[in-house]
Amino acid sequence: MVVVDSKVSALPAPVAEPRKLAVHFSSQSNEWTTPRSVFDELDGEFHFTLDPCCTHENAKCKRHFTAAENGLAQNWKGQTVFTNPPYGREIGLWMRKAYHSALAGATVVCLVPARTDTIWWHAYATKGEVRFLKGRLKFGNATASAPFPSAVVVFRKSRAKSKDRSHWHNGQLELPI
Ligand SMILES: C[S@@+](CC[C@H](N)C(=O)[O-])C[C@H]1O[C@@H](n2cnc3c(N)ncnc32)[C@H](O)[C@@H]1O
Repeated sequence: MVVVDSKVSALPAPVAEPRKLAVHFSSQSNEWTTPRSVFDELDGEFHFTLDPCCTHENAKCKRHFTAAENGLAQNWKGQTVFTNPPYGREIGLWMRKAYHSALAGATVVCLVPARTDTIWWHAYATKGEVRFLKGRLKFGNATASAPFPSAVVVFRKSRAKSKDRSHWHNGQLELPI
């Protein structure tokens, strides 16, 4: 015999997550605006001169590049760069740019999701100084925490020559073995 608690059966059926929330937290959204407190703490340490991926509204530095200028195609040499890159598949390109820009004389600090199982993490993040953030960030105006952990990866400027032997093929980053 199945006993149904009248209080439970009176509850409304569960509803799906509001669609707006799902989209806001998906990787389709590139606008994971850095929390001001996180930026200010890092800026106090590094004194950033360039934000290469932003809109004019969420730029963290006076000198900055939006998608229209394509920060990936710009020269970061000599700059102290803060980058919170787009979190889509192109994030590997930004990490590659950060790593090679450091080899060419920039200091680059990256705020990224701590996706330690990805190719880009192993190809680039592991070559930097990794600081895992405790807890989860609240990006932009969000009241809820992000559904992923974050890390700060620091690539300090180096005089070593850049030897980039990786390349992208069919949307996959291919690395030399
Ligand atoms: C995660 S948000 C970070 C925004 C801001 N820099 C911050 O820290 O709050 C990534 C930004 O990169 C911008 N973006 C996307 N593709 C870009 C490109 N090719 N060049 C420059 N900016 C780009 C997006 O519009 C978005 O504002």
